[in-house]
Amino acid sequence: MTSPLTRFIEGAYEQNRPISGQLELTYRCNLLCSFCYNSPQKRTQLDGPQWLTALDKLKAAGVFNITLTGGEPFRHPDFFTIAEGVRERGFVLKTYTNGVDLARRETAERYAALGPFDTEISIHGPTAAIHERLTGVRGSFDKLLVALGHLSELGLKVSLKTPITRLNQQHLKEIEDLGARFGYRVTYDTNLVPTDDGSSGPLELAPNREFLVDFFVDQARRGKMALAPRPIKEMKQVCGVGRTGITIDPYGDIFPCVAWREALGNILEVEALLDLWHGKGGLHETLEQVRRVSEEATTHLAAHPEAVFASFCPANALKETGDPFALYPAAQVSGSTKLEAAERLREEEKTPEKNAGENK
Ligand SMILES: C[S@@+](CC[C@H](N)C(=O)[O-])C[C@H]1O[C@@H](n2cnc3c(N)ncnc32)[C@H](O)[C@@H]1O
Ligand code: SF4
Repeated sequence: MTSPLTRFIEGAYEQNRPISGQLELTYRCNLLCSFCYNSPQKRTQLDGPQWLTALDKLKAAGVFNITLTGGEPFRHPDFFTIAEGVRERGFVLKTYTNGVDLARRETAERYAALGPFDTEISIHGPTAAIHERLTGVRGSFDKLLVALGHLSELGLKVSLKTPITRLNQQHLKEIEDLGARFGYRVTYDTNLVPTDDGSSGPLELAPNREFLVDFFVDQARRGKMALAPRPIKEMKQVCGVGRTGITIDPYGDIFPCVAWREALGNILEVEALLDLWHGKGGLHETLEQVRRVSEEATTHLAAHPEAVFASFCPANALKETGDPFALYPAAQVSGSTKLEAAERLREEEKTPEKNAGENK
């Protein structure tokens, strides 16, 4: 039986009801991650009162879940005005952060007082040398550890996140052990994405194929991921682009998701967000396009055996190849390595005695 939450989310997809807002408060940052997808522009970012206006419009549109991100959201000078505005309006609050600013006890306490639902913190290595090779800033690792100590003492739920790169792929177990010292679990992202303005620079740090196959086998053995093909043919769409989530950048521009960077308008100029979303007076051509693409992509993917295993994003397909349906190189790698891992596990199941011998 489907749960009420699942039914609610399915209903939001079917009726194109926006339920989540991802707000990129600022592109300012205290770190210099070489793989970062942000593409800052020389424009004036929204201030605190303008973000509060944006929150009112999101609320009126039915959004109930707000994620504050960036850049580094704590680097917005009005971060607390905005975050308090989120909670005062009754939104569920989530934050994506590198954790550095939470090393200040006062900041961590003020943040904890907001009652965030979740705080997702990026960790790139188990030691200063590895973490800081990726963040580009000396001292960022020690500050992260101090922050994790504060948040754990303050009883906050934290989800640690590691985008896997060639530089940290051999150190995942140590990162998990480090997180466990604070009582926090780590989740991994195996997909580096191009920058918002389309540069494939971040992909140069992508983990290698051999590693990925071993990684997926290990994750499946530990019950952390199911290596099953997605039932693409039965899926109505590959993702929720332009349906359930709205992204707003530091300048107020509205996007159909964090990856599809064609603006639908500006939050300061749009009077009723729901009218824009539902196309009152004519559906914005980008919204029409992304909804159609996410539906039609299911047919395109179903044709490739590895594609049903791939982490596929039409926006990244467009950035990498100019075609939102193409099985772009990174998706091809993600699909084919999972397929190979699934085949290896199947072989193991067929010959358990041999593996028992090998695993001694
Ligand atoms: C842009 S950051 C903003 C929040 C915060 N500054 C942080 O680093 O956690 C959001 C998340 O995207 C991840 N990220 C950044 N660039 C990426 C890329 N090119 N591919 C995949 N993930 C990326 C970061 O590691 C972080 O987990
Ligand atoms: S901390 Fe986040 S926003 Fe800053 S450079 Fe790294 S990934 Fe980008």
